[in-house]
Amino acid sequence: MRAISNSFSAFGLCAFSLIVTVASVSAVPISDATTASLGQSCTEVLLPITVEQSAAGEFSLESYDVNVLFALAERQTLASNTYNISMRICTPSANHVVPGHADTVQVLVHGATFNKIMWDLPYQPERYSWTKKMNEAGYATIAVDLVGAGNSSFPNGLLEAQTATYVEVMHQVVLQLRAGTLYPERQWSKIVFVGFSIGGIVANSLAERYPSDVDVMVLLGISWELHWIYPAFMAGLQDAARNIDPARWGALPGFYQTHPTLATREVACFYGAYDHGALEADFANRDFDTLGAAVTFTFHLVTAPVFSGPVFMGIGENDGTFCGVKCGSEPYEVYDKFPAASTHDIRVYPDTGHMLLFHYSGMQMMDDVLTFLASV
Ligand SMILES: *[C@@H]1O[C@H](CO)[C@@H](O)[C@H](O)[C@H]1NC(C)=O
Ligand SMILES: *[C@@H]1O[C@H](CO)[C@@H](O)[C@H](O)[C@H]1NC(C)=O
Repeated sequence: MRAISNSFSAFGLCAFSLIVTVASVSAVPISDATTASLGQSCTEVLLPITVEQSAAGEFSLESYDVNVLFALAERQTLASNTYNISMRICTPSANHVVPGHADTVQVLVHGATFNKIMWDLPYQPERYSWTKKMNEAGYATIAVDLVGAGNSSFPNGLLEAQTATYVEVMHQVVLQLRAGTLYPERQWSKIVFVGFSIGGIVANSLAERYPSDVDVMVLLGISWELHWIYPAFMAGLQDAARNIDPARWGALPGFYQTHPTLATREVACFYGAYDHGALEADFANRDFDTLGAAVTFTFHLVTAPVFSGPVFMGIGENDGTFCGVKCGSEPYEVYDKFPAASTHDIRVYPDTGHMLLFHYSGMQMMDDVLTFLASV
């Protein structure tokens, strides 16, 4: 059973659980009752991934200058480093194997202030668990913690934990998946990238830079409309996590921030028709944003001219960050941003805010993604 948000382990204040082992070759399956009831078998893996610095020059806080901003805006990485990337790999149990789905794996990338628990919230899993739903439909899932979230490494929160680093890490993850080194026990021929919020922006940037990495894109809770992003982001009143809760997060490095109260979380992620219990579970499990992510994410909202696979776009009609009060044409810009995609399937969910999965419409959204995947 997983504990509600034990972020301490992410930066070494308590030991990694014994079920988490280093590198895919020594991955140990988890077999607890929760897992069995989900019709799935899950393994947690800690995979070291090396990212190379792409920007010329040296970057540090001691010699801080505007070239930091300019290099970040150019979607460069500012440091070379190796990061531990934590993943939860779940495969359908034998009675949930579906012909035609068994060769597909979904790679799940969370939003900022979330971690991989968002795909399997410990609250009414029959309604909110993406992995349960997808595993029972015969799809394998790999839920990833981005750098600076969950049980992955927590490097410098401005120079390293930023969007270009996420893109390079996900590129390496996909290469290792294709090469069979990430999870030698299983190989999949089709990779679906599912990204929520900054995870969807990572998908967009990856599709531009490495258009042949993945086969299918599922973008959730993004658009290319910039007017509301910074006001909405600021309205979440994020503050340094170590100030918000020194007992819990006092050892976190600087530049790691989060929502201070339930109300600020609600403003940032919820609207309209949802269960307050889902909001409370989400708030209890919230993770961190970084200054680096906040500075960079809009620069990764790009046109991906070459990506030729199918693209699904799902967004809450009242996503205050990516549409404002109510979506108009914003989501349909996916036609211009993915001009070579084989299919564009766009779904806008009424009475739904940014974190669409945790609204009542989340179940419809998952059904729509399943219908989309079956058709491509
Ligand atoms: C990765 O995790 C292992 C095992 O917990 C640890 O020994 C190592 O120092 C970590 N590496 C990084 C870069 O955090
Ligand atoms: C991190 O690991 C701890 C200990 O195994 C676990 O309780 C927690 O749920 C994990 N967090 C994430 C985001 O996977």
